[in-house]
Amino acid sequence: MIKRVGILANGGDVSGFNAVIRAIVKTAENHDIECYGIVDGYNGLLKKDFERLTTDIHGEALGILPTGGSIIGSSTNSNLFNYKVVNEDGSVEYKDMSDQAIQNIKEFGFDCIFTLGGDGTQKSARDFSTKGVNIIGVPKTIDNDVACTEITFGFNTAVSVAMEAIDRLHTTGATHHRIMVLEVMGRYAGWIALEAAIAGGADVALIPEIPYDIESAARKIKNRINRGKKFAIVVVAEGAKPKGGEMTIENTRDNGSGVDNTKLGGIGPIVAKQLQDLTGLEARNTTLGYVQRGGTPTAYDRILSTEYGVKAMQLALEGKFGTLAVVKNGKMDSVSLEEVVGNNKEIGAVSGNTAESNIRKIKMDDDIVITARNIGINLGD
Ligand code: F6P
Repeated sequence: MIKRVGILANGGDVSGFNAVIRAIVKTAENHDIECYGIVDGYNGLLKKDFERLTTDIHGEALGILPTGGSIIGSSTNSNLFNYKVVNEDGSVEYKDMSDQAIQNIKEFGFDCIFTLGGDGTQKSARDFSTKGVNIIGVPKTIDNDVACTEITFGFNTAVSVAMEAIDRLHTTGATHHRIMVLEVMGRYAGWIALEAAIAGGADVALIPEIPYDIESAARKIKNRINRGKKFAIVVVAEGAKPKGGEMTIENTRDNGSGVDNTKLGGIGPIVAKQLQDLTGLEARNTTLGYVQRGGTPTAYDRILSTEYGVKAMQLALEGKFGTLAVVKNGKMDSVSLEEVVGNNKEIGAVSGNTAESNIRKIKMDDDIVITARNIGINLGD
C-alpha cells in the first residue's frame, strides 16, 4: 500500500512539468495518497526540502495546467552520485551523497519517488532504484532524445515555438532578400530542428545526425536564387557539425566536472557567414534559446503530460517500480529503467548527455527524414 509519494522535476525545464505534477497529484488524491514536491530536483532529496502538494482550494497544485516552468523548481547540476561539495576552505570535491538521500527518503516515509526528467535524471533514477528506492520515471525534455519512448513531454511546445519563429523569419527574410538562419536547441539530437523545419517550410535543416557539407546547403540556396526566390530559411540544430569537424561549444561549466557541463551554441552565426560568402545573399542569424523551454504548453503537451502523470501514478499503484512511463506504438506503456540506461550501467559513474548515455537520435529511415528529403529540404549531405 502506498501512502506517501514524492515528485521531483530535474534537468532543464520544459513546458508541461506542471501538467505532469498536477496529473500525479489528482490521481493520487483519488486513492488517498499524500503527495510532496521535492524542491529543486535531486537537491531537495539531499536537503530534505519537501513541500505538500494538493489540489485543495489553496493547494499548490491547483490552476497549474497552463503554466510554464516548474512549481517545485528543477536543477541542471544535481547528480547526487557525483555531487559538488564546496568545503569551508573553498576547495571543491565531488562526493557520492546518495546514501544520505536514501536515508532522508526513508525517514520521511516516501513509498515512491517520481522522477520527471531526461536521460541524466533517469540514469540517477535507475541508480537509486538499484539501491532499493521505489522509483518511477517520466520522460521529459524539449530535445526528445530519451531512449525507449516515442515522445517526451515539452518537445511539442519547443517545436511549436520554433515553427512560429520560422514563420516570422520568413516574412522579414523575403522582404529584405536575406538568408535567415535559425539556431535551435536539441543537444546531440536534431528532433527540434528537423520537425520545426518541416512545420515551418524551411529550405535547409542541419542536424547533428548528418555532418554537413556547407557547399551542399549553398547549392540549394543558389538553385532557389536561379528560380527567382531571393531568400532562404535555414534551421541549424545547436549540435550540428561540419563533415570532419566538431560541434560548437559555447562554454563549459565547472571545467566539465560533475555532470555533463558542456553548453552547446554558436553554430548559427558561423553557418550564416559561410552561406553569405558562398551565395552572395546577405545572411542573418537568430538564436532562439530559452523561449523554446518557457511559457505555456501546447494542447498536445498538456494532454501528453497529463497522460504521463496518470500512467506514472498507475504504475505506482500496481507496484511496478524501477520503470519509466513511455509511449510505445502510440499508447501509454512502461519499460524498465535498466532498458532506458542501456549500456551505461555503472552506478553513478556517468550522468546523462555523455558518450556512454543511451539517447535516442534521428535515424536515417525515420519518416521525418524521408519526408524532409522528398519535399526538397536540404540536409547538408
Ligand atoms: O536539454 C535541454 C536543453 O535545453 C538543451 O536543448 C540545451 O542544450 C540545454 O538544455 C541547455 O542547458 P542549460 O539549461 O544548462 O543552459
